[in-house]
Amino acid sequence: MKLAPSILSADFSKLSEDVKTVARAEWLHIDVMDGHFVPNISIGPLVVKALRKHTKQVFDTHLMISEPEKYIDAFIDAGSDQITFHVETVVDPLALITALQKKKVKAGISIKPATPVKSIEPFLAQLDLVLVMSVEPGFGGQAFMPESLDKIAELSRLRKQHDYQFDIVVDGGINEKTAKLCVAAGADVLVAGSYIFKAKNRDYQMGLLRS
Ligand code: DX5
Ligand code: ZN
Repeated sequence: MKLAPSILSADFSKLSEDVKTVARAEWLHIDVMDGHFVPNISIGPLVVKALRKHTKQVFDTHLMISEPEKYIDAFIDAGSDQITFHVETVVDPLALITALQKKKVKAGISIKPATPVKSIEPFLAQLDLVLVMSVEPGFGGQAFMPESLDKIAELSRLRKQHDYQFDIVVDGGINEKTAKLCVAAGADVLVAGSYIFKAKNRDYQMGLLRS
């Protein structure tokens, strides 16, 4: 199981220092919000580029934006290693997955709580990541929606059945209790923002998620 601390809950006035406190996590999750697809605005490629100098971690960029295809080059140039977009935001998901992979970036698709797994089934064979939102996208610190466990289990079953290769990522409301449920359902990567960054000792907190 891998961890992806979400910098949305970090202290933006000392982001590079906060990022160093989670250096033991495999990925760094970067939430990009446009105030259009979601009712909140976060950061863009400038911040990603600035952070790139401070860590070698995998930059896992989660685009919660309309028209993501317009911005992928900017995020790749800034140093994103993998880019996840929302299936609800594009007309031709396969074209965007292919474009990302051609640029040597891992491609992920995310689904909101109300979007069924069925909507992304045609793309599962080609995807590197599937990100299941376990809260409504837009804000950190919300409560985990237990319905998302069924989606994780369904994805895990489909992956086994067809020998697909994607990682199952879960994002929203992860704590030491919900982490266990997600891993038992088949999740490979846990994104956690407030649970990790609210703690003084982040290594200890990440240890709780892994135990
Ligand atoms: C929400 C973001 C999440 C968020 C998770 O839209 O995609 O990555 O930072 O925050 P927590 O872990 O606090 O629910
Ligand atoms: Zn996210």
